[in-house]
Amino acid sequence: MKITAILLAAGQGVRMRSDLPKVLHPVAGQAMILHALRAASQASTEKPVVIVGHGADSVRKTVADLAVCVLQERQLGTGHAVQQAERMLAGNTDLILVTYADMPLLRVETLNKLVETQRNNPGPLSLLTVISEEPRGFGRILRKPDGSVQAIVEEAVATPQQLMIRELNVGAYCFSADWLWKTLREIKGSPTGEYYLTDAVEVAVQAGLPVLPLILEDLLETIGVNTRVQLSEAETAMRQRINREHMLAGVTLVDPHNTYIETGVSIGTDTVIWPNTHLQSGTQIGERCVIGPNSIIRATRIGNDCKVLASVLEGAHLEDDVNMGPFAHLRKGAHLGKGVHMGNFGEVKDSSLGAGTKMGHFSYVGNATIGPNVNIGAGTITCNFDGERKHHTEIGEDVFIGSDTLLVAPIKIGDRSRTGAGAVVTKDVPDDTLVVGMPARAIRKLEKRKDE
Ligand code: UD1
Ligand code: CA
Repeated sequence: MKITAILLAAGQGVRMRSDLPKVLHPVAGQAMILHALRAASQASTEKPVVIVGHGADSVRKTVADLAVCVLQERQLGTGHAVQQAERMLAGNTDLILVTYADMPLLRVETLNKLVETQRNNPGPLSLLTVISEEPRGFGRILRKPDGSVQAIVEEAVATPQQLMIRELNVGAYCFSADWLWKTLREIKGSPTGEYYLTDAVEVAVQAGLPVLPLILEDLLETIGVNTRVQLSEAETAMRQRINREHMLAGVTLVDPHNTYIETGVSIGTDTVIWPNTHLQSGTQIGERCVIGPNSIIRATRIGNDCKVLASVLEGAHLEDDVNMGPFAHLRKGAHLGKGVHMGNFGEVKDSSLGAGTKMGHFSYVGNATIGPNVNIGAGTITCNFDGERKHHTEIGEDVFIGSDTLLVAPIKIGDRSRTGAGAVVTKDVPDDTLVVGMPARAIRKLEKRKDE
């Protein structure tokens, strides 16, 4: 059986008071529509169709090849929006699942149940409802005396008595496709000139066809984002959901209310996350790590047994046993080998530090390849930029860089060499050599170390 999802995303979202199309506002680090699209596409068998209108170009770009987009040129209501997909889908699918792109918390499990309800429905449509004391502008579900669904009344046109009804229309429907296309042509415009998809219920009931409701238990799933207040509610609910999943999978969150983990982040078991830590998209963390407090980690891979205290990591890669912070900054292309220690006020960009290398205090390393077991003294700087181009620094293994050394790139420091405190190194240093001064000059060949 072919099931196709249609996601409505053409509305302007006036109540957001934003230049950004509503469905592109992020929730847990990802455009709202992508959450809705993920659930809708997992609950269907065909590529979903997204109805775009306001901000069509940017919405198209965001969903890219995850969906086929169809333009609704004028936003004449949710019924009219669904109708835009008819030409593409008529005759090609059995069931149509319709959801709204401004409902990021609806779960795929719920949509699956809705589809299942419709599969067992001799009638043409099933819909999701919820019982809530807070009507939030949702359509009200009218029931007949025998308990069956009679109609959905939109808040704008409801009578005072209908406004008292506490069963609400969530905004997710599963239709038999052929019936849907036929019915959309019969729906009449509302007093405001909109064609309400919700009027399809009444059409079915008047034809004596059963409409099956599926009552949703979890109120949080039904958060629809129309204002920024609801956006923050969605954010909080999504964060709680994500955090709970990590905790159940074996991650300790010391204070989940102050831990911000975006969609798609992976964390190994027995890792402990301290408060005010932000783990942003593209981040993977291994097992037994201690992260935070006060860290921001974006698009970064972290191995096992690492410690990151009060630091900012972006586009970096840490192998196992790395210990960093407080106040360290890794930027894109930073690669710290196994057992690296990086202390306070250091910055590493587009550079690799070999296993066991230590960089304790106040240093900048950019565009550098540094071997294993190197000691980078306090205040070391790779002078990688000449005002026009970036240049590379290469440091061998077992090198000792004295405090306050300036390495003027391009430059190479040979294995086991040393620089004196305050050296300004402008020429390559061979292996086993001590250099000092400004500009640094070789003063003697070094003895082999005793332990070798
Ligand atoms: C809608 C439902 C309401 C339900 C509520 C739940 C209708 C008529 N009303 O109201 O019963 O309780 O959602 O969240 O369906 N859209 C288009 N084209 C349009 C109009 C809207 O694509 O011409 C899209 C919007 O971008 C949005 C979705 O449809 O993603 C819902 O529209 P919105 O205006 O937010 O409807 P609600 O007033 O919330
Ligand atoms: Ca809405």
